[in-house]
Amino acid sequence: MQAVGAIPKKKEVAIVEHPQPSLGRDDEALVKSLEVGICGTDREICTFVYGDPPADSDYLVLGHESLGMITEVGNKVEGLKPGDLVVPSVRRPCSEPHCAPCQADLQDFCATGDFVERGIKMSHGFMTEFYTERDKYLHVVPPSLRDVAVLVEPLTIAEKAMAQVWPIQTRLPWVKHHHENGKPSGRGLNAVVLGAGPVGILGAMKLKAEGFNTFVYSRSQAPNPKASLVESLGIPYISALDTPLEALAERVGSIDLVYEAVGVSSIAYKVLSILGLNGIYVFTGIPAPKAPIEVDADLIMRNVVLKNQVVVGTVNADGQAFRSAISDLGVFMEKWPEALKSLISRRCTIDQSRELLLDKATGIKNVVRFASA
Ligand code: BGC
Repeated sequence: MQAVGAIPKKKEVAIVEHPQPSLGRDDEALVKSLEVGICGTDREICTFVYGDPPADSDYLVLGHESLGMITEVGNKVEGLKPGDLVVPSVRRPCSEPHCAPCQADLQDFCATGDFVERGIKMSHGFMTEFYTERDKYLHVVPPSLRDVAVLVEPLTIAEKAMAQVWPIQTRLPWVKHHHENGKPSGRGLNAVVLGAGPVGILGAMKLKAEGFNTFVYSRSQAPNPKASLVESLGIPYISALDTPLEALAERVGSIDLVYEAVGVSSIAYKVLSILGLNGIYVFTGIPAPKAPIEVDADLIMRNVVLKNQVVVGTVNADGQAFRSAISDLGVFMEKWPEALKSLISRRCTIDQSRELLLDKATGIKNVVRFASA
């Protein structure tokens, strides 16, 4: 069967012939690929600065943003049946019995660094016609979300981020509006999302849905398709090209939360320097190693201390973040169906995947659709 593989020894990305999988364990399901999203991590793996094939393979099957359909289940599989739509999580635990997070199925916090990630680190991904996976790593998606469910994985980044933000910010017990109907609420708080790629736009949807007064700050000048999509959510799009930092701070007011989804350290650190009192700054980007940049470290350090700020990094994601992402996609589909669908800018065949992985990035979220889907 066909798969999209990165071959580090040859520095090549190619359609490879990959063995058809069959059920191994009793708790495994066989999944037929429907769609696989392409993200910055995949594109970076294709430049060979990141990513590793499994120990016994010369190539790494790419793809970690998958939507599939169950075709067969093992004897002990629970809660899944053929025909179900599923989204798999990405990270798998390390084998160290003393790694408390991995033992607790929280491998996103793996304490040894020996975790594996499907399609990224030491384990094949989902950009192939069929794959097998254990039931506990597969999350059922309702058929009503069929068109957008490939966005679940990138949305888990925001879900995990907010699962960190809320407990951390309970350090501010006087902020009563943090709770509404038993759920945390951002009402009365200002959030800035850095970047208008899929991670940024999905993060902005999450923050807006949670009640934050949300702004998106991104490079490109408006009008452009991403800016129009953002504005259609009722979220102001502010271009960094015509709004310098001071003007951003003035427009937003005190910045309570920054959700960094740009992966560019220079802009990320500049915005950190305008975070507000008691604010929280969430890093989600993974920049490739480059020459060091200049930052006003004294200003940042002074602010972090004198303004009681928190800076937190987050890598996705546990089962709860996947369940929350599926539930929130349902909410977004009710609120903003057209905007949500238009996040997927192009669907291509497996034969066209190389150009999406290797050429200059275009559109918003590009997706590989499998021929049999
Ligand atoms: C994936 C994460 C992964 C990270 C680092 C991201 O693109 O969404 O699941 O942990 O890359 O490899």
